[in-house]
Amino acid sequence: MSKRDPNRVLIFDTTLRDGEQSPGCSMTQPEKLRMAKALAELGVDVIEAGFPIASRGDWEAVHEIAKEVRGPIIAGLARCNREDIDKAWSAVRVAERPRIHVFLATSAIHREHKLGMAKEEIIHAAVEGVKYARSLCEDIEFSPEDASRTELEFLREVVEAVITAGATTVNIPDTVGYTVPEEFHEVFSYLKQNVRGAENVTFSVHCHNDLGLAVANSLAAIRGGARQVECTINGIGERAGNASLEELTMALKVREGIYGLHTGIDGKRLFPTSRLLSSITGMPIPRNKAIVGENAFAHESGIHQHGMLKHHTTYEIMRPHDVGMSRTNLVLGKHSGRAALRERIKELGFELSDTELTRVFNDFKALADKKKELFDGDIEALVLKSEVETAGPWSLENLHVVSDSSKFATGRVVLRHADARIVTHESSGDGPVDAALKAIEQATGVFAKLRKFEVRSVTVGEDAQGEAVLTCEYNGRTYRGTSVTTDIVESSARAFIEIVNAIESSRRRGADLGDVPAAAV
Ligand code: KIV
Ligand code: ZN
Repeated sequence: MSKRDPNRVLIFDTTLRDGEQSPGCSMTQPEKLRMAKALAELGVDVIEAGFPIASRGDWEAVHEIAKEVRGPIIAGLARCNREDIDKAWSAVRVAERPRIHVFLATSAIHREHKLGMAKEEIIHAAVEGVKYARSLCEDIEFSPEDASRTELEFLREVVEAVITAGATTVNIPDTVGYTVPEEFHEVFSYLKQNVRGAENVTFSVHCHNDLGLAVANSLAAIRGGARQVECTINGIGERAGNASLEELTMALKVREGIYGLHTGIDGKRLFPTSRLLSSITGMPIPRNKAIVGENAFAHESGIHQHGMLKHHTTYEIMRPHDVGMSRTNLVLGKHSGRAALRERIKELGFELSDTELTRVFNDFKALADKKKELFDGDIEALVLKSEVETAGPWSLENLHVVSDSSKFATGRVVLRHADARIVTHESSGDGPVDAALKAIEQATGVFAKLRKFEVRSVTVGEDAQGEAVLTCEYNGRTYRGTSVTTDIVESSARAFIEIVNAIESSRRRGADLGDVPAAAV
């Protein structure tokens, strides 16, 4: 094993596994790949790309990421049995640096109510699983699920046994977000001191946020000796989420004097990566979210503003540009050229190829014709749109809606199909969005049940762009579409067309993949 820098904390990102598992956060295969590339650029050490046995779609996404993404270790999750481990290995083995992450619950509650296994059986299964995984792959992580509610002495026994069996990283999860910092610090200190072979492995921490303590508990574990921390972008994850990557890494950086530790994260990529995830999942970032929220660096009170004008350190512990957020919010307009746009995009933390820049520049010009001033939020929306747009057979040629508070609204859509057909349909509805969506359903013949409808403004002012996020159900599956334009009815119609396209593409692929189709969520 190569000698590790003892002061380096490895960042294990599980946005694509534990994060993606949470309701409203599922991603398609191309979205997962896009996200994995962004995580590699951000500088994470490990990407947990998914749970390959969960479904064929999951396996494919993990395999694709393992094939395409260079730099970080690519991990696949497996329960403690040969079938899961074989599946995980077949998905990650093509990676430059593959890892199998095996887990088995150890707490009395899980042993009794979930597994029906005695302590000895747990140790036996964990050892067998790790040995088998190690026979396939050099890099094995083991997680005793619900470790924070496991008897400490038994936890020590399990950890010692899996180290002897060949685990190279031992992860201690607070699966249900139950622990508190003082307690978790003690657990790590105890294990580091009392487990035979502890010095030969990396201890890792994995916290959930049920009591809002995931970051605090992870930091306590790091002080107790953990040198890998598992976290997600924007803190997404099961229930209340996982520890947030941006909060953890900035805490380690801003308070380096206390911790004396560092990570490989490029802070300037935090904001763009956070926005990318939000745009992909349609899950908005709360305004007051630490590090990446819109208000994270906003100073409203007069006293604070006065202090800031004298010196920014009066009320600021880090600078917005340290996390990749630009505060100047420089305004671009229709006379701004390609070079100014390229510069702005770069300052916002995105690298675009010439072709991508041309596409964004064309969209930028079209938008500048409708909107006097373009803010950073507008530019980001254009870049992210071009990065995640779903291709499909249907596109919107024209939308005409008439809304009258005393009557039903009417909507007429003209849609173009990839086979060159132009289809026009008119429908009435309860409001302009309903009318437009009904017309699209009639025109395409795809009738999906609208489950959730969200609109928000991405910038400020009367002519701000509106983002629509629609969630629909079709044949028992959930689909999501997002679109940003200056007109919320048009955004809603475009988001709905994205969903129709996703449904069409699943239909075209015909066979059920046994789970989530590539474009479904
Ligand atoms: O929370 C948990 O226990 C997990 C394990 C699979 C590591 O996600
Ligand atoms: Zn978890």
